[in-house]
Amino acid sequence: MLKIVVCVSGGGTNLQAILDAVDQNRITNVELLAVISNNRGTKALERAAAHHIPGLVISPRDFPDREAFNEAFTEKMCELGPDLVVLAGFLVKIPPRMVSLFSNRIVNIHPSLIPSFCGVGYYGLKVHEKVLERGVRVTGATVHFVNEGMDEGPIIAQKAVCVEEDDTPEVLQRRVMEQAEWILLPKAIDDIANGRIEVADNRVRNVG
Ligand code: GRF
Repeated sequence: MLKIVVCVSGGGTNLQAILDAVDQNRITNVELLAVISNNRGTKALERAAAHHIPGLVISPRDFPDREAFNEAFTEKMCELGPDLVVLAGFLVKIPPRMVSLFSNRIVNIHPSLIPSFCGVGYYGLKVHEKVLERGVRVTGATVHFVNEGMDEGPIIAQKAVCVEEDDTPEVLQRRVMEQAEWILLPKAIDDIANGRIEVADNRVRNVG
């Protein structure tokens, strides 16, 4: 049984996709230990509560500096002791010590086809604004393991999504969520939980 902690920041639609997949047995062999949010009163925490999953808030705003937050966040994660940490719309940089302690055991969903439109400053709606500004015809989402870089860890899976002529950033974001993020993340979790993913030399192999 793979023990999971999910980290969220806002709406929690990716968390909801995970919860629905567990309910529908599209994710098996997992135990959701807790949901950690860096913001209070988020819809994501409501979604966790509705599924009777403990919700915690660990916010940088509650600490004198980022180092203190990083230490508290990492200590709490070690205390929870998950096998896998899932970043589902989580907008805070993962502390280097947590990356090292949970090497190849933290996965993130990014709303573009990495290495395009990723890295510092590329999150949420900003990603889709840049996609439309550049005029690319195809975008998508990527689920990857987290390493010390920003959106640079080994790629687990990607899914392409068409950009339409009259897209706004909001319309495009929703399509990328519906057609890519909400499919990729649950599938990756199920693959990891059922031993179908291996990482070697910074590359992911699907052995399913
Ligand atoms: C969205 O921009 C999504 O594309 C990205 O994180 C943001 C919020 O996701 N992955 P969620 O609704 O909180 O899961």
